[in-house]
Amino acid sequence: MRAQGAVSPGALEVTGLRTDHADEPLGIDELQPRFSWQLRSDRRAVRQTAYRVTVRELDGSRDAGREAWDSGWVTGPDQLGVVYTGAPLTSRTRYGWVVSVRTADGTEATSELATFETAFLDPAEWSGEWLACVVMAPTVASPLIRREFDLDGDVVRARAYVCGIGYYELFVNGTRVGDSVLDPAWTDYRSRVLYATYDVTEHLVKGANAIGVALGNGWFEPTPSAVPSQLQPQVILELHVELADGRRVAVVTDRDGAWLATADGPVIDHGIYGGETYDARREIKGWAEPGLRHGASGARWRRALPVEPPAGVLQAQALEPIRVVDELTPVTVRRLGPDSHVVDFGQNFAGWVRIHLAGGPGTVVTLRHAELMGDDGRVNTVNLRSAAATDRYILAGGAARWFEPHFTYHGFRFLQVDGHPADLTAHDVVGRVVRSAVERIGEFRCDDDLMNQLHRNVVWTEASNLHGLPTDCPQRDERLAWLNDMTVRGEQAVHNFALARLYGKWFTDILDTQGAATGAIADTAPHVRYGRRPADPVVSSFLLVPWLLHGHYGERRWIERHYEDLVRWVSYLASLRHDGIVEHSEIGDWAPPVSEAVAGSAGSGAMSAVTPGGLISTGFLYLDLVLMGTFATLLGRTDDAAWYEREAAAVRDAINDRYLDRDPARYHPGNQSSMAFPLYLGIVPPELEQEVLDGLVRDIEEHDHHLTTGNLCTKYVMDVLGRYGRADVAMKLLRQRTYPSWGYMIEMGATTIWERWEHVTGGVLAGMGSHNHPMYGAVDSWFYRFLGGIAPTWEAPGFGKVMIEPVMPDGLHSVDCTLRTPRGPLRSSWTRTKTGVDVTVVVPPNATASLLLPVPATAVVREGAAVLWNSGVPGEPVAGIAQVSADTGGIRLDLGSGRYDLSAVTTPPSVPRRTQ
Ligand code: BGC
Repeated sequence: MRAQGAVSPGALEVTGLRTDHADEPLGIDELQPRFSWQLRSDRRAVRQTAYRVTVRELDGSRDAGREAWDSGWVTGPDQLGVVYTGAPLTSRTRYGWVVSVRTADGTEATSELATFETAFLDPAEWSGEWLACVVMAPTVASPLIRREFDLDGDVVRARAYVCGIGYYELFVNGTRVGDSVLDPAWTDYRSRVLYATYDVTEHLVKGANAIGVALGNGWFEPTPSAVPSQLQPQVILELHVELADGRRVAVVTDRDGAWLATADGPVIDHGIYGGETYDARREIKGWAEPGLRHGASGARWRRALPVEPPAGVLQAQALEPIRVVDELTPVTVRRLGPDSHVVDFGQNFAGWVRIHLAGGPGTVVTLRHAELMGDDGRVNTVNLRSAAATDRYILAGGAARWFEPHFTYHGFRFLQVDGHPADLTAHDVVGRVVRSAVERIGEFRCDDDLMNQLHRNVVWTEASNLHGLPTDCPQRDERLAWLNDMTVRGEQAVHNFALARLYGKWFTDILDTQGAATGAIADTAPHVRYGRRPADPVVSSFLLVPWLLHGHYGERRWIERHYEDLVRWVSYLASLRHDGIVEHSEIGDWAPPVSEAVAGSAGSGAMSAVTPGGLISTGFLYLDLVLMGTFATLLGRTDDAAWYEREAAAVRDAINDRYLDRDPARYHPGNQSSMAFPLYLGIVPPELEQEVLDGLVRDIEEHDHHLTTGNLCTKYVMDVLGRYGRADVAMKLLRQRTYPSWGYMIEMGATTIWERWEHVTGGVLAGMGSHNHPMYGAVDSWFYRFLGGIAPTWEAPGFGKVMIEPVMPDGLHSVDCTLRTPRGPLRSSWTRTKTGVDVTVVVPPNATASLLLPVPATAVVREGAAVLWNSGVPGEPVAGIAQVSADTGGIRLDLGSGRYDLSAVTTPPSVPRRTQ
């Protein structure tokens, strides 16, 4: 979003216009894009009462052209997900749109023009062919493909539409186009392949031009023998140019012989797991420039041949590209031996290293990436399994220069550099932090250093695992999006990052795994290497992702469009019941402390030996049925909603019949997971809730405030404690520093969240010893949800109506949470004072909040000089505050938009007395 200055006093601004959650997107192929905007005003209680969107075709400039849509004035507060319903959009056309808004006080304001541009609205419009570099000898080198062409006029507008799989880099006239890396986002190529659109107007010239594409293997881990039989690196490209005199020229990948290819480029081996080997001696000077003398280039150039296209449909990449988003400077660089160094970045992260190297021709410098250090002072790569995670540079001699890889990434904190005789310093090595360039939207801070560090570790972990899909880990030979982890992780992630587009794409990846006959989805999406179909029943992320997208971002398209697909999966799962219970469980509450796991399953699996799989699987069926009921209600399918409600009740009863002992009340066998999960689901008979909760707390206390839970129920224990008023116990878990706990990880030097509660540096657990694994980071949503108290409601999704109900546990002094919601910043912050608590809340325009201050009704609540509540009596009316009332658990304030700086005085002697 464009940088915004202060809004002028009293004014209303309509700003932050987005099309399908993107600022001015280039190359969309959505037939009915959705619009959103924000309002800005320094006034309180701003409410939109009507809007009007108009869309016009733009002819390459910002001159208004043909009108495509005028929504007319639409009454209501909608500002998110407003669906384009104008004239059919045209491919490769630029559109401009503005929105006018009226607010309750009669003010009217109009936005500035925002744009979006279409690409190929129908994949059949592609005329290019897929080309590859076909060579007889097996090779793992990155192919280069190029052609030259002339333009006999000045260029006014040019777009390149490109997809190269597994990865590609696009060059025009020798210059790299764009700043994205590792493009395109990975999909199952049998279902879909994503292309990107680039504005290359400035790259082209009148006269001779050249295009070059370097291709990478991407997610295919090649071996020389495997490459020929696999889908090979290949590219499809169309360049569309408008000349000043109105002529249009297209240059596309085709078989006319002008496209040439070579496998003799400098990237001689590469894969995301293995790393990249770059031979600088094989660089081909000017390979992407016009005028290359092919014969004298040092490479063998041959015709690029048309090859079988991937079976999947070509789609516009509708998510943020992967980019280098940050750089890290080494904390230490130590010399190990004559030509060996070890670098510590002080932070585990995903990306790669940019390094300044010097050496004679043929010098091989090897970079090994690792999360761990060995006792011998060398990197410990034991937990990477078969991923070599090694980059190599073969130097060409000459002056020292910078190198970085092109088609790989690593998860690491430590780097071992071998083969470089000269000294390396911190100035010679740069950590390049690489991830999907999604916006950071959440901030949390409190006065407890350990909890702040935990939050920081979670954010780094999440950031390390966003690469076009939500991966499980960035370092070993896996990096897959496991749906079971995502069942708990998603809620954390949507608070910290803007994931409307990335999760939309990933939801489609899940759909691509769905079986046509059974409706069963898979454990991983895209589904390769690991995981099974049918998935384990714990994969409720299939439903939770669209649920979160609606609640947090106001995006309901996935529920609308794929309701039937969700039905098919849930029906499949429901059909597995015997006597009401789904016994099938292969993953369950995964990776609890080893003492709780099935003996011998430590290395390759980590099933719980204690928590009944049937309870977990059937519990998730219950959750799915409840979510389906919610979706059915949203879509107005009342019969379906009633049916799901009945089915959910039947599943609840079946779980209680099988697993609930009533005297004393406990879910068999009474461990933390089996007690917390039913409470989380809300299936415990109300009269037994307290007893089950007490049992859970007792178990936690008997473990001296340690968890015995796996990846899923860890979140549920925390949420249940927050929800049922036992934040005191949750705080003890959060502040625990001995094994197993998050604090233990931090005590052991963790800068990211581990896969296991154990500190794994070798031994049988090594194969499952990722040190950068988001699933246990699911705890982070607790900070926003309970300490900040922030929750969206379905009444007005996307934080149109917000619940703010912070808990203020003893021992914590202050909390400050901010979420940049699609409507604007939302803040909940509190600080204890000598006499009570100060609370600051910021509610975005066109939103309302229901704030529950957890203070007794005898408190006095003020804003500045105004008394809002005085010992049980509402005070004077204040702008923006619709009502102040006593509520169970505190004093409730119904707030319109704006900033509120409140103070509550709760200590009796300090309570100001009314003077009259
Ligand atoms: C993944 C986990 C996942 C598990 C399920 C592991 O290999 O890294 O995150 O939950 O498999 O089987």
